[in-house]
Amino acid sequence: MANERQFKLKTKFIATRGVKEYRASIEEWVNDRDHVLEIGCEWGTTTKIIAEHCDSVLGTDVSPEVIERARVRNPELKFDVLDAFDVRAALDLGASFTKIYIDMSGLSGYRSLLDVISLLNMYATVLRPEAIVIKSGALKQFASNCFAWGQGPEWSPGKS
Ligand SMILES: C[S@@+](CC[C@H](N)C(=O)[O-])C[C@H]1O[C@@H](n2cnc3c(N)ncnc32)[C@H](O)[C@@H]1O
Repeated sequence: MANERQFKLKTKFIATRGVKEYRASIEEWVNDRDHVLEIGCEWGTTTKIIAEHCDSVLGTDVSPEVIERARVRNPELKFDVLDAFDVRAALDLGASFTKIYIDMSGLSGYRSLLDVISLLNMYATVLRPEAIVIKSGALKQFASNCFAWGQGPEWSPGKS
């Protein structure tokens, strides 16, 4: 059947709200075999925490100024300039990432939900990490209203 042969993503998406949840997820989702890409690393504060839990991490940001500062603050870590929407440039980083962390300004509001989903879909398709953790209250809100038919909560409209 055609549907059986269609490409289906295996990447898990984890939506977090706020930087506290974003960082709290590291302990649960990152292990010492992981190669992690952080997108939107700013000065590398979260990159440094990720580094304590994984094999390798690369912090990236669209702003050369913040990358410069991240390098000064964390000389032991690797940083690069990357615009998240330039997925070809992300491929050119040449590494195989098992986990991706995304914390980009401009993706927080509820109206940015479609941008968030398309970004996740793009990275999951091209880099095929096991999981992408994203700081997006919009996605978390959306995901909390979703479940796969037959695997969802006990609650259903017909049940009291
Ligand atoms: C809230 S800060 C990140 C904080 C950081 N993750 C931490 O935990 O300390 C958001 C960052 O997203 C970056 N950013 C905005 N648009 C981006 C894009 N298109 N690609 C990559 N980074 C982007 C900004 O330059 C900014 O440094």
